Amino acid sequence: MDGSTRLIESGEDVLLYMNERKSWIVKVEPEKKFHSHKGIVDLGELVGKPYGYEVKTTLGATLKAMPADYLDHLERIARRTQVIYPKDMAYIALMGNVRSGSIVLECGTGSGALTSYLAGLVRPNGKVITYEIREEFQANARKNLERLGLMDSIEMKLKDITGGIDEKSLDAVVLDMATPWLVIGTVYDALRTGGRVVSFSPTINQIEKTVDEMQKTGFVSIKTVELIMRTYKVKVNETRPDMIMVGHTGYIVSARKC
Ligand SMILES: C[S@@+](CC[C@H](N)C(=O)[O-])C[C@H]1O[C@@H](n2cnc3c(N)ncnc32)[C@H](O)[C@@H]1O
Repeated sequence: MDGSTRLIESGEDVLLYMNERKSWIVKVEPEKKFHSHKGIVDLGELVGKPYGYEVKTTLGATLKAMPADYLDHLERIARRTQVIYPKDMAYIALMGNVRSGSIVLECGTGSGALTSYLAGLVRPNGKVITYEIREEFQANARKNLERLGLMDSIEMKLKDITGGIDEKSLDAVVLDMATPWLVIGTVYDALRTGGRVVSFSPTINQIEKTVDEMQKTGFVSIKTVELIMRTYKVKVNETRPDMIMVGHTGYIVSARKC
């Protein structure tokens, strides 16, 4: 059965879509009501209906029920820290050669945005071990990752990575932390030969120190990039780049243990 005919089951996360600016993820259950400024929806009405079903709120707004997917959840992740942008996530994962079955160490967990993307890639037999130094950030990230149903592929550790890495023979290490240069030697020891490290930093000063350490440690294939993404307004005879863009996120260094 395809997405347009699959029936909505009790307990599923459903996206109630009104327009590009307004949509909500709700867990559908009988007897449950969803309240918003657009009125109330009886969620029980959705159980057993096909995806694509249109439900009316008590104030007359029409909401279309779609299966909530990973991107819907990622956009709504509860942020207690800066999170990695989607454009950077995809490149970080590629340069870390993160694939199904990979064993990956990540530091820090932050809000768990990057953790969630990596966990989706390593499933079903791989694992993401993620270190975070601050308990309140870890607790928030845990809630985000539980909501996404990814905890089977994640091990969370409350741990300062500068105190050492417990794991050995890792396929990849991914760093998004303020002082990555302090752990490059430790990361080298924890990787398997041929394993990869990828580090994200918002400033070029951090990158200089990190690359310097990588060179001294013996990493090879050291590459630094910045990804700039421009979005477009597309309309016949009026297509042009959007006026406002995200000007800067950060730089990404990748390298390999030889
Ligand atoms: C920018 S956030 C990471 C955001 C994350 N990549 C995401 O997408 O949600 C950086 C995190 O690294 C953590 N951190 C910094 N230094 C650390 C260390 N030495 N050991 C473990 N975690 C550390 C911080 O507490 C913070 O939560």
